[in-house]
Formats: sequence, structure tokens, C-alpha cells
Amino acid sequence: MENAEIHFKNRAAKYNHSSNWVEDQVLINRIFELSGVGAGSEVLDIATGTGLIARRFYGRVKKVTGLDISPDMAKHADECMDEIVFAPYEKMPFADNSFDAVVCRQGLQFAELDKAIPEIYRVLKPGGSVTLCHLTAFNDTDRELTFAIQKLRNPARRNYLMPGDISDCLRRQGFNDVADIEYISAESINKWIDNGAIPQENMDGIRALYRSADEAFLKIHNVSFTEGDILDDMLLVIATAKK
Ligand SMILES: C[S@@+](CC[C@H](N)C(=O)[O-])C[C@H]1O[C@@H](n2cnc3c(N)ncnc32)[C@H](O)[C@@H]1O
Repeated sequence: MENAEIHFKNRAAKYNHSSNWVEDQVLINRIFELSGVGAGSEVLDIATGTGLIARRFYGRVKKVTGLDISPDMAKHADECMDEIVFAPYEKMPFADNSFDAVVCRQGLQFAELDKAIPEIYRVLKPGGSVTLCHLTAFNDTDRELTFAIQKLRNPARRNYLMPGDISDCLRRQGFNDVADIEYISAESINKWIDNGAIPQENMDGIRALYRSADEAFLKIHNVSFTEGDILDDMLLVIATAKK
């Protein structure tokens, strides 16, 4: 497994345009609304990256703090948050019961979940909300190929997620009102694989995997082969809960 910090050092400059979901304001608004925050809320965006989620909260809540391990990603996070803290989400330098909401988009695929989920619980105030949005496979039909594609696209990935995986972790941790909301993102594979951090052989390998996909995969992902590109409907699951 590649080191996540090195991966995002190489990816930082291109990150803000490295997929459709990255730039998707409808998805970002959805995460904001689901978090249930108000003007007096203190919000923590874990794996904040270039601050694309934090930016939606900045100026609309009392304080938004971003947390990440990558100073290179943070260089692209101007005017997105009140404070940035460099630390892993497995060991956060915050007191117990500090935040009204914890949010995260596409961050926990690199996590030691048995450490990160208890940390999220610990830093949330009682009654606080958690909103965690991640790419998943749809079901057992596409699982194997989706994970093989994800591995080539991001060799630093630790967790390959199915739709209920994060919400199961939240339930086991003792969170209440746990729910999953599905969101489909139509992706251009050319855009998605040109992330600045993987070699040509990985990009060629991803295209080859799509070409080898069976009918069931092509159907569930609504794949189309256009002139020079491949289009794939990817599934993101937003897990929400209350402490
Ligand atoms: C795909 S980016 C997501 C950025 C942002 N949340 C977004 O939605 O655009 C993943 C981020 O997770 C960060 N990350 C990886 N491992 C981490 C860890 N152990 N603790 C905190 N952040 C981590 C990376 O540095 C990177 O900025």
C-alpha cells in the first residue's frame, strides 16, 4: 500500500478538478444540509484536503476547522476554513465533546477505522451530528471489479467499502439515528484517472478493466464507451448519525 501523504503530495495541484464528484455543488450542498448545522455550530471537516467541503460551511457557522495530514493539499485551501490542523484522524488533538458536527467526504478510505470512528465519537458533543460521504461498490455484482479499479486509481487506499460499511461502524460505536443516503455521480474515467499521482500503466489498467467488464457490471454502473472516454455512474453513500 502506498503512503497517503505521498499520494496526495503528487495529486494536490490537480485535485480540485480530478473527478466530477469533487466539484459537484449539489453533493456539497447535500452534505451541508444533512449535517444540520446552524449559525452557532462548531464544525470539524476531517480529511479536509483542499477545503472543498469546509468552504461550504465557512462563514455560515460559528467556526469550521479542517483536519488533514497533507500540507500540500492545504496549500490549495485558501479562504475555506477558520483553522487548519495537521494531524491524523486516528489521533485528533482536540478535547472530548468539542464539535457540534463532524463531516467528511472521501477521507476514511485511508483510515484505520477502529481508531478513527472512536475519535470522531470522542470529539463530538452529545447530540452532535456526523456526516460521512464515501465511494462504494453497489453490491456483490460489481464489488470485485469496482475494488480492482479503485486500487489502481489510488494505491494508498486501505478500505474498500460496501454501502453499509461506514454506518455499521457508527452503530457499533454507539451512534444513534444512523442512516445511509445514496448519491450517484456520473464520472468521466479520463478525468477521474488523470489525477497526477498514478503511472500510465495504472491508467491503461483501469481502461482495460472496464473493457473486460461483464454485462452485469456495465448495467449497474450504466457504463458507456464514448469516443475516447468511458462514462461510469459511481455510487457515493452518505452515512449520517447523532452522538
Ligand atoms: C480524496 S481527499 C478528500 C478531500 C476532501 N474531503 C474533499 O472532499 O475534497 C482525501 C484526503 O484525506 C487525507 N488523509 C489521508 N489519510 C489521512 C489521515 N490518516 N488523517 C487525516 N487525513 C488523511 C489526505 O491527505 C487527503 O487530503
